Amino acid sequence: MSLQRCQTEWGEIDQEYQQLQETHKVYRQKLDELTNLQATCSSAISKQRKGLKDLRHSLRKLYLNLVLGNVNVTLLSNQAKFAYKDEYEKFKLCMTIILMFAAITCLFLFNYRVTDEIFNFLLVWYYCTLTIRESILMSNGSRIKGWWVSHHYVSTFLSGVMLTWPEGSMYQMFRSQFLAFSIYQSFVQFLQYYYQSGCLYRLRALGERNQLDLTVEGFQSWMWRGLTFLLPFLFFGHFWQLYNALTLFRLAGHKDCKEWQVFMLALTFLVLFLGNFLTTLKVVRQKVQENPEKVQKQE
Ligand code: COA
Repeated sequence: MSLQRCQTEWGEIDQEYQQLQETHKVYRQKLDELTNLQATCSSAISKQRKGLKDLRHSLRKLYLNLVLGNVNVTLLSNQAKFAYKDEYEKFKLCMTIILMFAAITCLFLFNYRVTDEIFNFLLVWYYCTLTIRESILMSNGSRIKGWWVSHHYVSTFLSGVMLTWPEGSMYQMFRSQFLAFSIYQSFVQFLQYYYQSGCLYRLRALGERNQLDLTVEGFQSWMWRGLTFLLPFLFFGHFWQLYNALTLFRLAGHKDCKEWQVFMLALTFLVLFLGNFLTTLKVVRQKVQENPEKVQKQE
């Protein structure tokens, strides 16, 4: 290769290198722009998240203000929080007993539309009240899972639809099954009360250490015994909800079925089954993960 050719090639390579440097400069500039844009986007997303969280908080307060008026729902001391929770559990127990008697009366004594309506109205009122009390509990730091609160909104809706379902052959075909389910649900709620109020008292004792000589281990062992006893009843109730959904879907396909309530109730029972079943599984999984050695000991 002649010297002149080498010089020409060197010139070309040098020129390409200059171009490459320019391109690299542009690349660095764009990379800086991209990094800046990424940082701006990340901070905008965090700002949006915070905004949404604040909005959710305000909406919850707005809902409480709407229902309760302008009252202060912040419970300051731990004692006040325990007392409110205790009262909430007792309210549930008291209503459970009333609802169980009401359902037994409707199922075995009076087959009248008016008594059924009173029962369903009582259910609507009860679930509405629960959602309000649970919102207050949540604004005071309770760890209630979102689904249990939503579950009470869905149950309010379900009881409302039951209330509007007109008398007829379709209604009568589902009536006994619904009332029997309500009795069973009250029975499970009764067991739940003993478990939840037991947890509450033991947690309080753990916090104060003056009522019982209780250790964290002791609490965990009591909780697992209670939960193992309760879970089969809960799961049976969930599958009964699924059975209600299937019965209603079948009724909705019946040639004489004209009421929209049948299909709507079927969907609502299905939602309740899925939500309750999956959330209960999640709760149990979380507890097992938090404390696997204890479960093995229990087994
Ligand atoms: N309704 C209202 N509050 C509930 C609740 C429920 N179903 N489940 C749990 N909580 C509350 C607890 O009291 C606790 O409150 P706190 O933070 O104020 O002390 C908080 O949520 C956290 O409880 P967690 O530890 O997650 O559960 P747990 O051990 O108290 O209860 C179960 C676990 C599974 C027994 C309970 O969630 C339950 O009963 N679920 C099934 C409900 C159901 O399916 N009902 C329909 C039956 S047909």
